[in-house]
Amino acid sequence: MGKDWYNMIAKKLGGYTKNWDSIKDHISGEDIFEEQLKELLKKYQIALDAGCGHGDFTLKMSRFSQRIIGFDFSIEMIEKANQLLEESQITNVQFFHSYANDLPFQDEQFDIIYNRRGPLSIFREIRVLKKDGVIFGIHSGAIDEIINELNNNGFYSIEINEYTTNEYFPTEVDFAKFFTRMPGHPDYLDSTNQHLLNKLVEAHKTDRGLIVQEKRFIWKALKN
Ligand SMILES: C[S@@+](CC[C@H](N)C(=O)[O-])C[C@H]1O[C@@H](n2cnc3c(N)ncnc32)[C@H](O)[C@@H]1O
Repeated sequence: MGKDWYNMIAKKLGGYTKNWDSIKDHISGEDIFEEQLKELLKKYQIALDAGCGHGDFTLKMSRFSQRIIGFDFSIEMIEKANQLLEESQITNVQFFHSYANDLPFQDEQFDIIYNRRGPLSIFREIRVLKKDGVIFGIHSGAIDEIINELNNNGFYSIEINEYTTNEYFPTEVDFAKFFTRMPGHPDYLDSTNQHLLNKLVEAHKTDRGLIVQEKRFIWKALKN
């Protein structure tokens, strides 16, 4: 997705905060990623959040880290992130407006890079990660590309795990809010898109309600 789409999401929805109700079958990949990341942040000192969005996750993780720098190519997201930072008491986080393939950081500046559904072009700037530093990510796809990047950039101790869970939405409005946030989808809360929402609802209807399968890959590796 281009940065105009992310700018629009930041402007219209204020970023990525979950604004719908849903329940999941069992613990999801997203929850597992968060718990594992907390442990890594305690162990490794200076962290880079690649594609930090509007920064609420970065700020949440700051409790477990000595220092986190987040960057994003959407100026609107970074403005929201800086606003949240100002409103908080947090002093160990900084946000930068930057493209993943052209970072304003020194070589080997970071002990850990984490990437929560962020840009894979971070591999073009892997110089910013220290030797034996860790890269840790979660994505819903592109796992072949990720494995290639890890191998081509000489990473070792590569670990890939796949997690699948079902997410159930109590109402069509919750379902519409979820899909409106998905890259490439229109605003289903806008009544002119009702016919598109109806089609989507039809495709996701089950006896237990509206369902979406959440599939996530959690990946981790160390830099040579
Ligand atoms: C799916 S969002 C995830 C945001 C955040 N990591 C989170 O978990 O809430 C992906 C983010 O990556 C950013 N992004 C995408 N491509 C980028 C690039 N090439 N350089 C920098 N940021 C990028 C987008 O602007 C967006 O905020």
